[in-house]
Amino acid sequence: MARGRLGAADLTTMLGEWRTDAPAYDALAERLRLLLIDGRVSADVRLPSERDLSARLGLSRTTVTAAYGRLRERGYARSVQGSGTTTALPPHATSPADSETGIDLTKATLPATRLLADAAGEATERLTAHLPGSGYTLRGLPELRTAIADRYTERGLPTSPDQVLVTLGGQSAIALLGRVLIARGDRAYAESPSYPHAYDALRLAGARVVTSPVTTEQGWDLPALEAAISRTQPVMAYVMPDFHNPTGWSLDEEGRARLLRAAARTETIVVADDTTAELDIDRPVTHPPLAALAAGHRARVVHLGSASKQLWGGLRIGWIRAEPELLGRLVAQRSATDLGTPIWEQLVTALLLPRAAAVVEERRGQLRAGRTALYAAVDRLLPDWSLPARLHGGLTAWVHLPAPVSSQLTLAARGRGLLLTAGPRFGADGAYERHLRLPITAAPAEIERAVGILADLWPRADALPHALTAHAEAVV
Ligand SMILES: Cc1ncc(COP(=O)(O)O)c(C=O)c1O
Repeated sequence: MARGRLGAADLTTMLGEWRTDAPAYDALAERLRLLLIDGRVSADVRLPSERDLSARLGLSRTTVTAAYGRLRERGYARSVQGSGTTTALPPHATSPADSETGIDLTKATLPATRLLADAAGEATERLTAHLPGSGYTLRGLPELRTAIADRYTERGLPTSPDQVLVTLGGQSAIALLGRVLIARGDRAYAESPSYPHAYDALRLAGARVVTSPVTTEQGWDLPALEAAISRTQPVMAYVMPDFHNPTGWSLDEEGRARLLRAAARTETIVVADDTTAELDIDRPVTHPPLAALAAGHRARVVHLGSASKQLWGGLRIGWIRAEPELLGRLVAQRSATDLGTPIWEQLVTALLLPRAAAVVEERRGQLRAGRTALYAAVDRLLPDWSLPARLHGGLTAWVHLPAPVSSQLTLAARGRGLLLTAGPRFGADGAYERHLRLPITAAPAEIERAVGILADLWPRADALPHALTAHAEAVV
């Protein structure tokens, strides 16, 4: 049975300018395939009827029938008796195309810190004492909760272990907060662009997502942020003050104060995602965690963090820092979706967090090398692309393309074994065809190869008809 249906109007917005120089049925099928691959459309969703979509797109019905047929042939759709055409994801959908290249830039992740191997050995020795137990904890091991609390305290936000809950990575922290704070139909604020899986989690919790822009040139549009919050009175505001994913911006002091004042007026709980907060390359000013300013503005701030970017994604350790009352509610609700976090990974993390200074230094070197490689390669090979004038930290550059062809370029790159996430995946409403997120986390040689492939494809992408698509950016 289908898990939902997609109307012709919504699908048309998501498709953006999908035409290429390929036959229309083929181009339409390809764009639908990309929407499925990058998660903008889920599997098991009923597509609009061929009649509705052809009317909306101004195409013959035969063209839409042929496009749906092509999707079915390739495993991206199936016909269900009495339910029309439903999307599907074949098992190979999200793995690289057959190619020698095989570069995956859809994830902005770093390799494990070089300190990890030693910590893993020591954690294994310590594990012996835990073997008679269950092997997992609902709230978190005391030593890890202490290490997380100490790190917040060191960064300027006094924290005690009873304010900390250990989760399964940052993503489960976002999802749990969404589930507990949001009731179906509530509004939730998020920046635009934002971390796509946060949008997914907020929507899964039943939220109607409202946004305001963060741009590569100016950062947060503060009047728009204040207006969005005061107009919609969201129950929660999910933000990334440092470093915003994907733009890499860091919110300045005035921005922090204005965000907190706006949230206090509407009793909106601010959820600050710290996942990339310490991934600093050369930022002129560092700020204490947002909650350090909350009391001064009578705002409520919850933090969430993750070991994934600093230590290693393979640990799957994340956390929430909140006042004990909310933490109690989170713990009570957690078991519906997972029963706890494994002990060994917690032991490794507890050993590494006190060594944050050394890890941050290591990451700084890697990110600086990635940034240098990306800027040099783009300047040399794609001089009409615009990189952010400043990128002081974080994991990615939000590149501005001279034409709204992000999805087309992403599809073409896939054929060459280079996996990217198209710009629109980072928006709540299908905008950002003029943007592409390029991680600075990969090894310099890999970044250079990826930009080489993009430069190779670019003359052809540029030749695609895109002038009609000015609307794609106007939504932002
Ligand atoms: C801003 C942000 N928050 C949360 C996450 C998810 O973190 P984790 O891998 O710990 O689940 C990511 C991962 O990309 C992220 O970029």
